[in-house]
Amino acid sequence: MRFENQVVVVTGGAGGVGQTLVRLFAREGARIMISDINEEGCRLMAEEARALGAEADYLAGNLRQKEYCEAVISQAAERFGGIDILLNNAGIIPRGTIEETSDEMWFTAMDVNLNAVFFLSRAAIPHMKKRGGGAIVNTSSVWGTHPGPAHVAYCTSKGAVAALTKNLGRDCAPLGIRVNAVCPHEINTPMIRSGFERRGLDPDKAVEELNKTVPLGRIAEPEDIADVIAFLASDQSRYIAGETIEVTGAKPVSG
Ligand SMILES: NC(=O)c1ccc[n+]([C@@H]2O[C@H](COP(=O)([O-])OP(=O)(O)OC[C@H]3O[C@@H](n4cnc5c(N)ncnc54)[C@H](O)[C@@H]3O)[C@@H](O)[C@H]2O)c1
Repeated sequence: MRFENQVVVVTGGAGGVGQTLVRLFAREGARIMISDINEEGCRLMAEEARALGAEADYLAGNLRQKEYCEAVISQAAERFGGIDILLNNAGIIPRGTIEETSDEMWFTAMDVNLNAVFFLSRAAIPHMKKRGGGAIVNTSSVWGTHPGPAHVAYCTSKGAVAALTKNLGRDCAPLGIRVNAVCPHEINTPMIRSGFERRGLDPDKAVEELNKTVPLGRIAEPEDIADVIAFLASDQSRYIAGETIEVTGAKPVSG
C-alpha cells in the first residue's frame, strides 16, 4: 500500500495506460481524481476504482482548455482535502512530417501534450507545498528525447515535456516536490492500435510484427509503464528528481 490515503490526479484516466494507473493506485490505497475527455470512460474507471476499495471521483473535459485543467486540480483538492501526486499521462499523437502537419494538428499537440502539463502542474504545486511535498510524473516519450520519424508535432511536444520536467525537477526539488518523466517506446494501447487500424492493418498482427523489433521481445504493455510511473510517484524513488526515464525494452529510436 504505497499510496495509502494519498490524493492522486491522473489525466487520460480512461485510456490504455491511464486505466492501468487508476487500477494500480486504487489497489495501493490512493484517493483518485480521474480526468479525461471521455466522460463515460471516466465514470466507468471511477466505479472500478471504488469497487477496488478506493475513493474516486472524476471530472471530464478537454485538456486544451486552461479552465478545465485548473478545475481538475481545484476539484481534487476540494473533494479530497489536498493533492500529493499528479500524473500527467494524457496525450495525443498527430502523425506527419512538417509539410503534412496542419496548424490545427500542431496547436492541438502542443495544447494537450504540453500546455496542459504546464497548467495542471502550476495549479497543483501550491497544494503540494501546503502538504510539505509531492510528486509529479509526466509522460514524455523516447520520441521526445530522440527524433522519431515523421511525427514532428508529437515529437516536439514530447521533447518539450522532457525539458519542462528537467526544469521543474530543478526548481521544485527545494519544495520537496519531485518532478520526473517516463519516456516509453511503443505501448500496446488504443493510441498505437488505432494508428494501425487507420492504415488498414490488423492491430494484433501489426503488434506481433512490432514485437520482433524490440530486443526484449515485445512492445510494452500498459502495466510495464504504469509500474515505472508508480515507482517515480512513490517514496521508493525519493532521491530521483528532474529525470527522464526511458522505458524501451532496449529498442533504440530508428527509422
Ligand atoms: N502508446 C504508445 O505507444 C506510447 C508511446 C510513448 C508515449 N506514450 C504516451 O503515453 C501516454 C498514454 O498514452 P496511451 O497509449 O494510454 O494512449 P490512449 O490513447 O490509450 O490514452 C490517452 C487518453 O488521453 C485522453 N485525451 C486525449 N485528448 C484529450 C483531451 N484533449 N482532453 C482530455 N483527455 C484527452 C484520451 O481520451 C485517452 O483516454 C500519452 O501521453 C502518450 O503520448 C504512448
